[in-house]
Amino acid sequence: MIYLDNPATTNYKPFSVKMGILEALSKKYSANPGRSSHKLSINAALKILETRELLTKVFNLNNSNDVIFTSGCTEALNLAILGSIKTGGHIITTIYEHNSVLRPLFKLQKDGLIELTIVKPNNNDEITIKELELAVKPNTYMIIINHTSNVTGYTMNIADIGKFAKAHNLVFLVDGAQSGGHINIDMQKNNINMLALAGHKGFYGPQGVGALLLNNAKLQPIKFGGTGINSEQPMPPVISPEAYEAGTTCTPLIFGFDAGINFTIKHFDKINKKTTELTKFLITELSKIKNIKIYNKKNYSAGVVSFNLGDLPSNQVANELCETYGICVRSGLHCAPLVHRHFNTIEQGMVRVGIAYNNTKSQLKKLVFALNKIIKN
Ligand code: ALA
Repeated sequence: MIYLDNPATTNYKPFSVKMGILEALSKKYSANPGRSSHKLSINAALKILETRELLTKVFNLNNSNDVIFTSGCTEALNLAILGSIKTGGHIITTIYEHNSVLRPLFKLQKDGLIELTIVKPNNNDEITIKELELAVKPNTYMIIINHTSNVTGYTMNIADIGKFAKAHNLVFLVDGAQSGGHINIDMQKNNINMLALAGHKGFYGPQGVGALLLNNAKLQPIKFGGTGINSEQPMPPVISPEAYEAGTTCTPLIFGFDAGINFTIKHFDKINKKTTELTKFLITELSKIKNIKIYNKKNYSAGVVSFNLGDLPSNQVANELCETYGICVRSGLHCAPLVHRHFNTIEQGMVRVGIAYNNTKSQLKKLVFALNKIIKN
């Protein structure tokens, strides 16, 4: 099998990630962190604190309590949006968002709690400050952007948008699902108040863990249960991270996430160079195919390339790639329907290739060979 569905989940997991998960399941750590005061519980809590500190350092935060572990980027985005709601307020977002942003927003809008503006790109498919400025209203309190699109790889300028958010006193929430691990993100420098991350994509960690990072952001919890502190009170005290992490912590996944973050830090330049080179190579090779339409526009580091072959339904192309050539890609709408509305591909979808560190030129040549065969037939 040639796996090219890495924006969904990276298939390659470093040895250290697997060992991290196993270590957490060993007798030394398999206990409830933050609940009991015995040694094993403390062992696990201290290791988890190390991961909070690591994320604090990598994304330039001041306090490791501002790192909240979640089940993934979807939960992180839900917590950020639902936990910071200002009834009667207005939120700005863009057509590039994933359903994990759009659906909580649509729900709030449907319930009459917020007003929503979904900003469309300019003729170059870009969202610039010009488009965002036009959306600002007196009651706007938040802006949410997808740093890197999981459909086209388009990467927004968080420095400019951070300045815009600060100038208008808006909470700035960044969906880092596809950029985390691929791009260095400085939360303080870019005025990012909340950053949502997934462990299982660009960090090469396990599925089932992610994080919401806070920088001067106020949140209410959205899930309730045991927090290990102030148990006598009916409502949890709003203390980070405990208030937001009700329930038993996913220690093995956090250990794996930790190893994945360390792997990407250690090999950051190598990973970036290789992914960028392979992405450029693929775009060059795909461009030689007659009747192909490529949707990526000079965005290389996330390794996302989407295309269509003439009028062929993207699902048909992806199925044939898998069944006949053993190549795994993703087709359809990628849970980001408004991007497809913009590109007029709601019916056809797009075939998406996602390149990771472990992919090779020869795999991409096989993909291009297979696509040429599919067109011929
Ligand atoms: N959002 C993930 C993707 O783009 C699952 O495939």
